[in-house]
Amino acid sequence: MSKKSQKFDGDPNTTGHEWDGIEEFDNPMPRWWLWTFYLTIIWGIGYTIAYPAWPLINSATAGVLGWSTRADVANEIAAVEEANAPINAKLVDTELTEISADADLNSYAVSAGSAVFKTWCAQCHGSGAAGAKGYPNLLDDDWLWGGSVEDIHFTVTHGIRNEENEDARYSEMPAFGRDELLEEEEIDQVVNFVMSLSGEAQDASKVEAGSVIFADNCASCHMDDGTGDRSQGAPNLADAIWLYGGDYATLTETVTNSRYGVMPPWNARLSEAEIRAVAAYVHQLGGGE
Ligand code: HEC
Ligand code: HEC
Repeated sequence: MSKKSQKFDGDPNTTGHEWDGIEEFDNPMPRWWLWTFYLTIIWGIGYTIAYPAWPLINSATAGVLGWSTRADVANEIAAVEEANAPINAKLVDTELTEISADADLNSYAVSAGSAVFKTWCAQCHGSGAAGAKGYPNLLDDDWLWGGSVEDIHFTVTHGIRNEENEDARYSEMPAFGRDELLEEEEIDQVVNFVMSLSGEAQDASKVEAGSVIFADNCASCHMDDGTGDRSQGAPNLADAIWLYGGDYATLTETVTNSRYGVMPPWNARLSEAEIRAVAAYVHQLGGGE
């Protein structure tokens, strides 16, 4: 069959394409479709002029409307800060010890403090504040420097043994072995004495000699009975709660080389309201005094 004979009368043009006798019409696109198509092109060009669009080497064209997600976030943060300004001001003006008495202020401080803790403190003290070797557990009532809300506030503000802040909590346990203040045998004896303080199994024959060494070298910081001294951040050695560890090897390492745990000061990084909030948060975790 010829091409022509297949075509019925009055039929518009065909493109001339034919597959198995089926031909393709060459109808114009409907007007409404065509105009919609042109409109999308115009809209698209307008959009890339109005909004950030074309990638440049380090950024993108800004768009004449100046819209930016960053600016949106900054505005939102500013709005939240403005909304919280009165309660933050109240937090800064209230005596630390009075915060917990004001239910609204306290619940604000604890929730804001929990957010601060997760951002700034959890990497060292653990997300649940239970600490790790060398990083004190903040949940228990065993404190190196003190567990009142004022003590915690001071510790957080100035940090511990850092050089950036001259008010930082500071003390230094001598490295008795490294600096040859005690013989190896004497360290062995005093370690056995320390183990006896918290009732750990120890070599009883060394305890007496160890107690003399302790009285001469250690009691000035850890006290005669080993219960420690907060004014020097010297831990209680008699309570079986250990910052570094209470086994023979760890104790020998501590006495030989000392430790020197450092915590950064926070007053340069956090606002006074944030420090008070996190102090209130830590204080109510369970060990607060
Ligand atoms: C870089 C690690 C690090 C970070 C981050 C850190 N700390 Fe500490 N923190 C320490 C160390 C180490 C000590 C113990 C120092 C010592 O041996 O006296 C400590 C001690 C403390 C103490 C004293 C505990 C006691 O028993 O007296 C408090 C309270 C405390 N941190 C709270 C915080 C808070 C709140 C934050 C967050 C704002 C924070 N820390 C962030 C390392 C850190
Ligand atoms: C100048 C004060 C000072 C003297 C003296 C001192 N210590 Fe310490 N000791 C500290 C401080 C402060 C710490 C806290 C750890 C740190 O430096 O980070 C500590 C920590 C320890 C710890 C670690 C406790 C734990 O929980 O893991 C042990 C054990 C210890 N001392 C034993 C001794 C013994 C034994 C002597 C005597 C031979 C001694 N100390 C003398 C200040 C002192």
